[in-house]
Parts: sequence; structure tokens; C-alpha cells
Amino acid sequence: MCGIVGYVGEREAQPVLINCLKRLEYRGYDSCGIALLGRGTEVYKGAVRIETLERNLQPNDSRTGIGHTRWATHGKPSESNAHPHTDCSGKVAVVHNGVIDNYLQLREQLTSEGHTFRSETDTEVIPHLIEKYYRGNLEQAVSRAIVDITGAYSLIAIHADRKELIVARKESPLIIGIGDKENLVASDVPAVLDYTDRVMYLEDGDIGVITKNDVKFTRNGKKVERAEHRVPWSIEEAQKAGYDHFMIKEIHEQPRVIRNTFAGHISALEPEIDLGIRRDLDFSNILILACGTSYHAALVGKHVIERLAQIPVRVDIASEFNYSDTVLGKTWVIVITQSGETADSMRALKKAKELGCHTLVITNVVGSSATRIGDDVLYIKAGPEISVAATKSFIAQLVMLYLLAMARASVDVRSRGSLIAELRQLPNKVHEILDREGEIAERGKHLAEHENVFFVARGINFPVALEGALKMKEISYIHAEGYAAGELKHGPFALLTPDTPVIAITARDNTYETLLVNIKEIKARESPVIAVAEEGDDEIEKYVDFVIRVPKVDPMFSPVVNSIALQLLAYYTAKERGCSIDTPRNLAKSVTVE
Ligand code: F6R
Repeated sequence: MCGIVGYVGEREAQPVLINCLKRLEYRGYDSCGIALLGRGTEVYKGAVRIETLERNLQPNDSRTGIGHTRWATHGKPSESNAHPHTDCSGKVAVVHNGVIDNYLQLREQLTSEGHTFRSETDTEVIPHLIEKYYRGNLEQAVSRAIVDITGAYSLIAIHADRKELIVARKESPLIIGIGDKENLVASDVPAVLDYTDRVMYLEDGDIGVITKNDVKFTRNGKKVERAEHRVPWSIEEAQKAGYDHFMIKEIHEQPRVIRNTFAGHISALEPEIDLGIRRDLDFSNILILACGTSYHAALVGKHVIERLAQIPVRVDIASEFNYSDTVLGKTWVIVITQSGETADSMRALKKAKELGCHTLVITNVVGSSATRIGDDVLYIKAGPEISVAATKSFIAQLVMLYLLAMARASVDVRSRGSLIAELRQLPNKVHEILDREGEIAERGKHLAEHENVFFVARGINFPVALEGALKMKEISYIHAEGYAAGELKHGPFALLTPDTPVIAITARDNTYETLLVNIKEIKARESPVIAVAEEGDDEIEKYVDFVIRVPKVDPMFSPVVNSIALQLLAYYTAKERGCSIDTPRNLAKSVTVE
């Protein structure tokens, strides 16, 4: 739930570390710090944003250091809880991402051995363990220290007497950026893109020794090689490119993202879909597991797969599946996770494997933890998503689920052909919504005055109502609830007032007429209603106060266009309210704790 970075090379380490940390701020931002090797180990940290830390730093010519940006799990955001953490001598410094499960026992034991602790964090046991085992070789001390630790970690350790970074990984991401006479370490690729596009991914159990000219890995004491990869993203792709926020930039990238997601899977000549995953699986039903926005994608996927492939689909919130005593028969388990690191989803994935299920991971991040566990992997190819609120990865997940359903569809070739043609048209349709950005922004300005809002829909758009509400609440801090339109009268009606706008998401399918009835019921309670409706639907004008227009598409694809309209609505509402859109309070991009 934090971002860690390391640098060793010929440049001054301090500005490099600060720059890399800024690119990892989406992983956590309640406190931050750096440690530099000079005459000893110098630590600068605080419960501040990185910009503030940077302003308070003096020039420093150290060429080796580590840094951390935190999202608190053990102990409140404070200077003493901020990383890096040090040992008693002050020579060892460590940054860590993950959770040490047995830290209380270790702390007790180390205290009885004379170690003094200064923070409430689980991490602080690591530098003390390293101090305990250090005999002049930092790699050996780290290797010995992690034997004592149970839990998840990616960590970087430095020692005042050694010009090297020692890295270790277990169930928490870590990459090495390979440079010329310099090497970098980071939790995620965007952090190093200013310096290099050559990266290596650590595997669970790896320990690495990183010097300015060399990168060496061992696993269980034996030397291992890790392949070098070229990052296909340009630095521009990981930047704001002139937009005010990453979120709006990522919303605008969606036409290209949709093309990327289906590229390579749809044949140019035949109406065929090839996902490159096993087709001979023997299963009678599908279980999809995911969290948050990815869970909403899964709910849309259920509708599409059941409709096209006629296979029963169950969708579980990953964290709840972890406590269920469910019996899985011939079940194909699909785990959807943008980051590939979400702890709840990782645990669910492992549980599904333990139960003997064949698993498929749908993710955005190459080399992420999920990709090492799943039997099959499908990449959504959305590119780096920096905004904490997921937008383009959600749409790419939907496209992947359409492809999956179409690949298994029991429809004739002509129908498959027209579905593929419709999918190919989606990027143009999305451009049409983006052309209406100004109108949606105006609506956002009005919504910004309210404190409560409902999103309602039926059928395949019910998950879109949930996602619309999630986007609105997380970035604008307006209390937003997504409801199946038929459910309002079973309780939430009590909350409807003239000051409670309701957003009704429509599609011209078998839900339309009943949704109109629900809208009339809402209007009778005097709540203003904004409809999201397709071009040419004049009927809707009679019943609602305002219509956000989306292009006409096959109702099965309406979640794509409707969701994008709601992403824009949430964005402009939050902007009007002056919110911290890319880094909303209390949230982090990659939720690596359960
Ligand atoms: C909301 C959002 C989160 C994530 C959730 C799962 O905008 O981004 O709800 O969808 O934390 O994350 P992944 O997909 O990385 O497993």
C-alpha cells in the first residue's frame, strides 16, 4: 500500500528519489521520506506530501539512497511512523511495502535483546533484525532477517558502510530499472521511466544486490537470472500530457484503449476471436472474483457471458469469497484485477487454486503478482493508470469480458460478425461522448451543490449505477448510492427529497419501460432526475429534468458508453468542488492489504 524507490549510480540520489516518489504518489501519500548514504545514513522524513519534503531538503551529494511514500496501515501518519526506518546504530535504513504479520512477537523479542523502537509500524522490526544479523555482509543479513518474518513485503535496505541496495520481495511488487552506470528500484514501472525503459521484475523469494554497475539475484541461496524487459509505454503516456488531472487524461485515452484491448484478438478477415487461452476446459459454470470497480466490471461480464455463451456465472466480492465455505464443482474461476496486486483478490485467487479450479486472471499489469499465480492470463492493455479512480482500466476490462463472452458464444457466424462489428465501432462512439464533455461538465457543476445522490438502473446497467456511484463518492466526496431501480421503493425512498438528485441510467432493452415507471415514482417524491439516454430517445424527455445524451449502441454495449458519461460527470462534479481528484483522501491505487 506504499511506494518504495532506490537509487545507486553517478547522479545525486536525492532529486532522483524525489522525482521517482512523485510518480508513485498514487500508491499512498500520507507521509514520505528518504535515506541517503553519505557520512553515515541520513534520514529525512515527515507526515507531509512529497512536494513539502522536497522544499525542506538541503542539497546533498550522496549517490545512493532509498525513498518511500506511505499509506498508513500500522500507526497513524506521523514523522516517526514514516519510512525509512533505521536500526539502533542508525547505520541501517529500510523502506518496505506490505505487512509483517508477526511483527508484535518480533518486536517483543528484539526489545528483550536490547533494541529500542521509535515507531508503531510493523516495518521497524526489519532494520533491527538486519542489525542483529549483520556481520559485514548486508545481503546475508537481509537474507537471514527475512527468515524470521512472516507476511508480505517488498523492501530495500541500505547500510552506511556499503554502496549497494539490497532488495527482497514476497507477494508485493518490485522492479529494477536498469541504467548506464546507475540502477533504480521501484514498486512500479512509471517511477523509473524518466531514467530508463529497461526493467526487470523480481519474483517472490528473490533477493537482489544492486550496485551502480551490477544487478544480481539469488533465491534460496542460489543465483537466478531475471529477464530484462523493454517497457512499451513512453514517458508521455505516464504523464498528464497537458490535462489538469490524470483522471481526465485517462478518460480521454479510452477510444485508443478499447482498440488496444481488442487488437490481436479479432481476426481481420474472419468473424473469429482468439484469446490465446485454453479452450478445452471442462467446466459447467464460471465464478468471477474481484474488488471495487473490477467487481462492477465482473457484474456486467455476468450479463454478457450468460446471454451470449449461456453459461451460469456467479460473481463474488473477492474479500467475501475468502470467508465462504462454497463448494466449487466444475467451476472456471476468473479473477479481475487492474493492478494484479490487490491483496483480497490475490487471496481469493490462491483459494480458488487450492480448491482445484482452473483460473484465469484479467489484469493490466505485466509481471504483477496475479500473473504469476493464475493458470491463464489476459492483459487488458490499458497502459499505466495513475489516477486512483479507475476509468480506462474498467472500460478495458469490459471489452475483455465482451471478447471472452463472444469467443464462447453459441451464436451463428453472422451474429458473431455483427457483434464484432459493433465492438469495432465502440471507439468512435466513445469519441462522440467525449465531444459532449462541455454539456456533462455543466451538469457536474449543478450536482456539485448537493450532498446526496442516487444512481439507478436495471439489468446490464445496474452495475453501471454501482460504478457511477463509486466514482462519484470517491472523487467528489458526495454521498452517492447505486441501486437497482426496483429496489428504491423497498427502503431508500425514505431518503428522496427535492435536494436528492437521482441519475437514471437507461438502455433501450427489456428494462426500459419498467425503468420509466420507476422514474415516475421518483419524480412523485420530487427528486430531480437526470437520465443518461441514447440519442433519438425522445420519450425520456417527458419524464426527467435533464438528459445526458450518449450515442446509440446495441443495448448489450450500453454499459461502455453510459459508464464513460458517468466518469465525466463525476470528474466535473469533483473539479467544481475543488477535490484532490487523482489522489482522493484515504484511498490508494493498489490495495495490498486485506
Ligand atoms: C475505484 C477503484 C478500486 C479498485 C479496487 C480493485 O476507482 O479503482 O475500487 O477497482 O481497489 O483494484 P484492482 O482492480 O487493482 O484489483
